Amino acid sequence: MTDIAVTLADKRGTLPSDDKLGFGKIFTDHMFVLDYESGRGWYNARIVPYGDFDISPAAMVLHYGQAIFEGMKAFCTEDNRVTMYRPVDHLNRFNNSADILSIPQMDVKLLHAGLKKLIEIDKEWVPKSLGTSLYIRPFVISVDPFVGVKVADQYKLFIILSPVGAYYASGFKPVKIKVEENYVRAVKGGLGEAKTPANYAASLKASEEAKKEGFTQVLWLDALEQKYVEEVGTMNIFFKIDDEIITPELNGSILNGITRRSVIQVAKDWGMKVSERRISIDEVFAAHAEGRLKEVFGSGTAAVISPVGELSWNGKNIVINNNQTGETSQKLFDYITGIQQGRVADKFGWVDEVTKL
Ligand SMILES: Cc1ncc(COP(=O)(O)O)c(C=O)c1O
Repeated sequence: MTDIAVTLADKRGTLPSDDKLGFGKIFTDHMFVLDYESGRGWYNARIVPYGDFDISPAAMVLHYGQAIFEGMKAFCTEDNRVTMYRPVDHLNRFNNSADILSIPQMDVKLLHAGLKKLIEIDKEWVPKSLGTSLYIRPFVISVDPFVGVKVADQYKLFIILSPVGAYYASGFKPVKIKVEENYVRAVKGGLGEAKTPANYAASLKASEEAKKEGFTQVLWLDALEQKYVEEVGTMNIFFKIDDEIITPELNGSILNGITRRSVIQVAKDWGMKVSERRISIDEVFAAHAEGRLKEVFGSGTAAVISPVGELSWNGKNIVINNNQTGETSQKLFDYITGIQQGRVADKFGWVDEVTKL
């Protein structure tokens, strides 16, 4: 395997106290970097001090947005091991995003090794208290200094690390979600399945308007008919109707969430009926009217499980489970975070040990 050169920072920073962490504001001392050039492939794998870097004002990513990213987490367990959650699944999805954006495929084994080495070097930055984690952000940008639309010939890949605070520092809070009726996020055949900046840029106007109206996030409907449920801003969505757990099927326009996969596998393992299928927003509201909509929750790396307490659509506002966290949402949250934090046996092989503290 390619060697990974290491240049250590002269000065080390210190991990702030938990209450100062927040999300995505603080970065560790080092980053992993890899370059690409057509004809040469990916080369020059290295770990260097975290810091700003130069690119040309003509760098293609700044003009045409050919870029991808990932988001995953590492944890410190109660017995002081540092572990990552499903890193190879995240890195394989990174390659799927690369394919959609015409970015060359990457060597998952090299990225996995680079990531482990990076975390080992920066392990003092892994926060220890319950609910905190080290957020891992791999990304690729196209950097040819060229103004003109084409597939780039030069790329840079980075992995940066950010210690983050507990998502539920003051307990579970069911969120209020607006079903989006004016804007759409992604259309079939488009970029929806990729983790690429364009999808997030496309979501900003709708989420700003929703926030002004007092909602936390929007629930996207399909772009053709605005009839079928897709996903929430940064989460996949699940409905518990009677005893069935339903989540929209993967159709190319939603993200293939790793937490979504975990939820499906765990719920099936518990003997629950789980369906991945098209579900219309009409069906959701009808189930509520009939008293059959028991729970709604989102799934994603940041929150793991986020219970939905209210949904607003077509002039109607429905309250789910009395605006309380449902039994299944709570059980899934406890179980998956238990695996991540090393309190629950990892029977699915999702935990990857990096080092000890
Ligand atoms: C658009 C979107 N959908 C769903 C998810 C949830 O995916 P995961 O569970 O892999 O974090 C995310 C977060 O990564 C997202 O950005």
